[in-house]
Amino acid sequence: MSKTPTNSPNLPANSLPDWGTLVPVLPGDGPRPKALYTAIRQLIETGAVPAGAKLPTTRDLARRFKLSRAAAIAAFETLVSEGFAEARVGAGTFVAREVPHLPREEFRTPAPDPATPAALPLTVGVTQSDPATARIFRRLMSRHLAHPAPEHFRYGDPRGSAELRQAVAAYLRSARGVRCEAHQIVITSGAQQGLDLLIRAAIRPGDAVWSEDPCYPMAHTALKGAGARVIGVPVDDEGLDPARGEALCPNARAVYVTPSHQFPLGVTMTMRRRMALLDWARRNDAWIIEDDYDSEFRYGGPPLTALQGMDGAGRVAYIGTFSKILFPGLRTGYLVAPEPLLNAILEVRARTDRYPATLTEAPLADLLNQGHFAAHLRRVRRRVQAARDVLVAALRDHGKDRLDIAAPEQGLHLVAKLLGRGRDTDIAAAAKAAGIGSRALSPMFIAAPPVQGLVLGFSAFGNEAVREAAIRLCTVIAQTA
Ligand SMILES: Cc1ncc(COP(=O)(O)O)c(C=O)c1O
Repeated sequence: MSKTPTNSPNLPANSLPDWGTLVPVLPGDGPRPKALYTAIRQLIETGAVPAGAKLPTTRDLARRFKLSRAAAIAAFETLVSEGFAEARVGAGTFVAREVPHLPREEFRTPAPDPATPAALPLTVGVTQSDPATARIFRRLMSRHLAHPAPEHFRYGDPRGSAELRQAVAAYLRSARGVRCEAHQIVITSGAQQGLDLLIRAAIRPGDAVWSEDPCYPMAHTALKGAGARVIGVPVDDEGLDPARGEALCPNARAVYVTPSHQFPLGVTMTMRRRMALLDWARRNDAWIIEDDYDSEFRYGGPPLTALQGMDGAGRVAYIGTFSKILFPGLRTGYLVAPEPLLNAILEVRARTDRYPATLTEAPLADLLNQGHFAAHLRRVRRRVQAARDVLVAALRDHGKDRLDIAAPEQGLHLVAKLLGRGRDTDIAAAAKAAGIGSRALSPMFIAAPPVQGLVLGFSAFGNEAVREAAIRLCTVIAQTA
């Protein structure tokens, strides 16, 4: 076990931190001493409570978190025995002056989902191809194959072709208010590679990174896999709360956010929170990784400008994808790199997969430049909005006593919160056995108290299939809950 002095604390030593702000609700359902121990240990390790600070009394903590006194004492005993805290007779318990580094549980990457031959109705994140766009894409691709330009058949630029980068930059400036030039764009293999490149360029193993809590699981996995210390920052009706993040870990290196449409909860981050997050990043030289995965699907008026477009300090790295608006098989996304990260990103890119597929870049650039993409957006948005309405109506009609549903103003999925006592993981498993796709909400929480619910996709199925699956899902819930 190694020991290091705790991070530079923001709170003066021996002050009593505001425990109500730091841990307002104990996370998880597990044993209470373990939950309290874990919460306090996280605060100590992240530097949110400084070395030498006096801990509240076990009586205070028991009262505040509605625990037995014995549970609080047991948590303190573990903290003391592991060297995170020191008990001083007659004076109380204090954060240790040097905090130990205990070996952490090894992070095992979960096996990726195998590709399913056909997604079950209500599966999240899948899309349906648009026949008119497929025809246009085929024509554009045939033209490039019939009149091959050498650059589409040879080794390419690690950033992607200049033509596609220019087209993407123009699109992002006008549709999302992103401030960018083509030289900052990197064409990626979907949003996931964009995230991976940014993590490798900006984050070192052991760095603290804020993440929305609950979080998009593939982002959480990418951060953990890179050795980041992921600090779950709770999401409420206004999105991620930077004040809570600052209380938990003021000097994190980066934050991962989906501000336009939080995945999974569907909240849009308010302007107040956006400004607070930008301000925190500027003050701490932290990076904001903005994942704008589905903002093309906005049903109630124009989308809010991307966070990147509001950032005057160059702290936001922006990620987008064609996986949702076109199709995931294209494996094409993009990132807009802040200038100081660009070289590091390109270095990682060049040594991992070198550059994106040059051949598919050409018809995609044509699709954007020739006005087909704008027409495609209008068609697909109308279709998906209709599917959303069908799903919401069917769930409200058939599951009204069991589900709490808000119709999302954006995106391809909704969250149906469970009102009864059933567990979302059991229901999702039973639904799958009945041929219905869904994802349990509760496993997407990191440290915040998990909410029981189902995440349901409506983007890839005909209206009748959506209605029929929703009705059957309500029957499964009634039988499982
Ligand atoms: C929050 C979020 N980000 C990004 C993506 C897209 O990833 P990719 O472009 O790698 O397919 C998804 C897909 O489900 C998502 O839900």
